[in-house]
Amino acid sequence: MTSTDSTPTAGNDDTSGAAAQRPAKAPAKDPWDLPDVSGLVVGVLGGTGPQGKGLAYRLARAGQKVIIGSRAAERAQEAARELGHGVEGADNGETARRSDIVIVAVPWEGHGPTLESLRADLAGKLVVDCVNPLGFDKKGAYALKPEEGSAAEQAAALLPDSRVTAAFHHLSAVLLQDPEIERIDTDVMVLGEARADVETVQALANRIPGMRGIFAGRLRGAHQVESLVANLISVNRRYKAHAGLRLTDV
Ligand SMILES: NC(=O)c1ccc[n+]([C@@H]2O[C@H](COP(=O)([O-])OP(=O)(O)OC[C@H]3O[C@@H](n4cnc5c(N)ncnc54)[C@H](OP(=O)(O)O)[C@@H]3O)[C@@H](O)[C@H]2O)c1
Repeated sequence: MTSTDSTPTAGNDDTSGAAAQRPAKAPAKDPWDLPDVSGLVVGVLGGTGPQGKGLAYRLARAGQKVIIGSRAAERAQEAARELGHGVEGADNGETARRSDIVIVAVPWEGHGPTLESLRADLAGKLVVDCVNPLGFDKKGAYALKPEEGSAAEQAAALLPDSRVTAAFHHLSAVLLQDPEIERIDTDVMVLGEARADVETVQALANRIPGMRGIFAGRLRGAHQVESLVANLISVNRRYKAHAGLRLTDV
């Protein structure tokens, strides 16, 4: 027995009968028992970029109703026409208002100002942040450290009336957008504070063939998840690949 799997035994010898009177503990919930999200509308802020378009395409192809957002409605409508599968385009505000789940896929530079300006539109929504704050120099990509700790924590601070989660950081937009590719074999680390919200986002990831949404902790753990993309970029450059993540033994 190790120190991490030890079970306390002292005090378990309960002869008072109190144990018998305690209500039975509910059985642990199956972590793979996730909600049905097929009827939810998904909006994508910054949905005209490679990541937003790629996610929109994959989710819509899986049968999800998707609206892509842009700072200019016409740009979003044009991108939506290209994507097909019933994808609609609108400005970012309308996209937020009409959606149940809103994925944030704008560049880090525009993250704070975009969310601040959409605070009212995003009230009550489940927000999924996939933004990776990165810098680039001669040595390659490196992680930036946002003042709030991470992009996701910045979102949570700016959107007190929304439910903020973080996911979809490690996907290749190239693979997402390639219509010849049927499956994206990768895991999606999902972080958040409320279990129900995390499970909704896990279920959303599971809609895409080959993907698994895996709970990966609270938002305070988002910085290292966002930062890992710098390592993946190094992998991709060396091996000419579009590397993703697989969590083993889960
Ligand atoms: N690319 C990937 O493989 C990948 C993978 C995982 C995560 N991500 C993350 O996903 C986010 C989007 O990546 P991307 O490569 O798709 O980015 P991008 O092409 O640079 O930007 C996405 C869209 O955001 C809008 N935008 C640009 N500058 C903006 C600003 N200052 N304020 C508000 N909106 C702005 C633009 O749409 P409009 O001009 O139409 O408004 C643009 O098409 C990034 O934060 C990235 O870290 C990317």
